[in-house]
Amino acid sequence: MTGLGPGVSAQTAREELREWRQDDPPVHGGRVLAYVYDAGVEQAIEAGLEALASFGEVNALDPLAFPSVARLENSLVGWGLDLMRAPDGAVGTVTSGGTESCILAVLATRGRGSTILMGETAHPAFHKAAHLLGMRTRVLPVDPQSLRLTGEAVATALDEEDDVALVVASAPSYAHGVVDEIPAIAAASQARGVPCHVDACIGGIVLAYARPDGAPAFDLSVPGVSSIAFDLHKYGFAPKGTSLLLFADPQLRAATYFTFSQWPGYPVVNTTLQSTKSAGPMAAAWAVARVLGDDGYRDAVSRALLATEAIAEAVEGIDGLRVLGRPDATLLALASDGERGIDPFRLADAMKARGWSLQPQPSFGSLPRTVHLTVQPVSWESVGALTADLRAAAGEARSQPWAQVGEDLEAAFAGLPDLTGGGGLPDEMAGVHALIDALPPGVRDPALAAILGALFSPRR
Ligand SMILES: Cc1ncc(COP(=O)(O)O)c(C=O)c1O
Repeated sequence: MTGLGPGVSAQTAREELREWRQDDPPVHGGRVLAYVYDAGVEQAIEAGLEALASFGEVNALDPLAFPSVARLENSLVGWGLDLMRAPDGAVGTVTSGGTESCILAVLATRGRGSTILMGETAHPAFHKAAHLLGMRTRVLPVDPQSLRLTGEAVATALDEEDDVALVVASAPSYAHGVVDEIPAIAAASQARGVPCHVDACIGGIVLAYARPDGAPAFDLSVPGVSSIAFDLHKYGFAPKGTSLLLFADPQLRAATYFTFSQWPGYPVVNTTLQSTKSAGPMAAAWAVARVLGDDGYRDAVSRALLATEAIAEAVEGIDGLRVLGRPDATLLALASDGERGIDPFRLADAMKARGWSLQPQPSFGSLPRTVHLTVQPVSWESVGALTADLRAAAGEARSQPWAQVGEDLEAAFAGLPDLTGGGGLPDEMAGVHALIDALPPGVRDPALAAILGALFSPRR
């Protein structure tokens, strides 16, 4: 006897899933300003979901058995290489997402050294890569004003370290939405014979389609940039499960392939970390890109940028709140401004009460606590409502004390809501975020793992 019980009709299963889905926030409409990306083009959404279903059972492990897989991959990589102005001979791989692209970019260079050199705002996926691949990270502070990793910092560190396998720069960083000094970083790397990877997972499409309106240089046309990644499941507006990882030099890509034929079964040939994998996400990304086309992306990106500008302008007019840095794309980090500034965590709660989901970001070193917004093309249609609610929420948050925890952090942690108890999260999360914020670095990560472990515990 297993725990499944007797089978039910497809209709029943569908209804049960629909019910579970009702507790999720909406993935379309722009009310959720993190994790989801809505261009608001109905035909593209439909085409993507249809392709996801119709290719869901195709095994992308083997392009010889399923020739459509090679067609899809070559078509997506070809587009990516054009978009990222790759040199002749450049190649690429379709991966399952940003993290896999980061890990494979590191794997490509592991033979050259054991250190990944990166800014403190680089995505944690590079720490994960170091953890998984037995490497170390050397983390450099970003410029305190611009929040960018500078060419100077990288050059100095490269002169100190003789075991650097890869330099990583962000275009832009997730936390603050600013692009690192990529031409200077890539030049410093090239001068010392070290490859330079640009993590454009979140902003690559936005920056590329915003050209030539003054977008910063970041792509494979920049001398010294040896690889770049951008995610189709972010501003490519595709369903989850695809990113493009591009290499200027095919030898770098070759180092990411895994082949094994010394066993009595089928020869295993993998371009990514997964072996058997669905062709669904890749087909979906292709369908979305095909429907949108260059004009669709240009239009979507320009709406997202206009909305970002309008929100940033509104924030400038709100007492006690400011935009951190000078964002280059469509990501905003809002911080407290002045002595009696607004607590970003309280702001997030006040916005939540008005139906908007913003993402609290804890403080780190000298970087303050902020609230993050991933602005989307559909945000342009609701920018009036969003900015009006921001003003009202800021007014409410201004009158509240900053969310804090007492000295007994252990007791506060034990008092966190029982996430598995079915009660769900409290409406006001500022206290929980303040607790995470207050935990010393060595305690924060195990605490987060404990919360996750509690969440993923089936009741049997
Ligand atoms: C700059 C950057 N790199 C990498 C990632 C990781 O991407 P994923 O969540 O698709 O694994 C993200 C995610 O937001 C990101 O913003």
